[in-house]
Amino acid sequence: MNYMLHCSGCHGQDASGSPSAGVPKMASVLGHFLKVNGGREFLIQVPGTSQSALTHAEVAELMNWILKTFSKHEMPPNTTPYTPSEVAHLRATPLTDVVASRQEIVKRLQAQGIAME
Ligand code: HEC
Repeated sequence: MNYMLHCSGCHGQDASGSPSAGVPKMASVLGHFLKVNGGREFLIQVPGTSQSALTHAEVAELMNWILKTFSKHEMPPNTTPYTPSEVAHLRATPLTDVVASRQEIVKRLQAQGIAME
């Protein structure tokens, strides 16, 4: 399974991450990103996802799986799955500043009353 092979080494088998080491918790959090501008894009543009050795189709399938498996309850009910062409487009437009982009998204979430670390 691609999560175990490519992501769990840093993010943990249960997606709890390692916040003290700078790896954010994805479990019960990640779906919130889909609620604000730029969040859906960020999940693919973040280097761990975009720079993985996986194909666009594999990344789409993997992110759909991660969201459903680890953060189903936080996902907006009308979420459409990522497609390979959406992933291809997002991987072609990398983030220039990951930390700043995340901070913007966290601010937008906090404005909606969603507390983030
Ligand atoms: C070498 C360790 C490492 C690997 C391997 C890794 N990540 Fe990450 N990931 C991180 C770190 C560190 C961050 C925090 C942002 C940053 O510094 O890029 C992160 C952030 C993320 C985020 C954003 C979460 C948030 O709350 O901001 C997502 C989504 C993500 N990774 C998905 C993946 C996926 C999917 C894979 C496997 C294909 C993966 N990562 C592989 C270390 C890793």
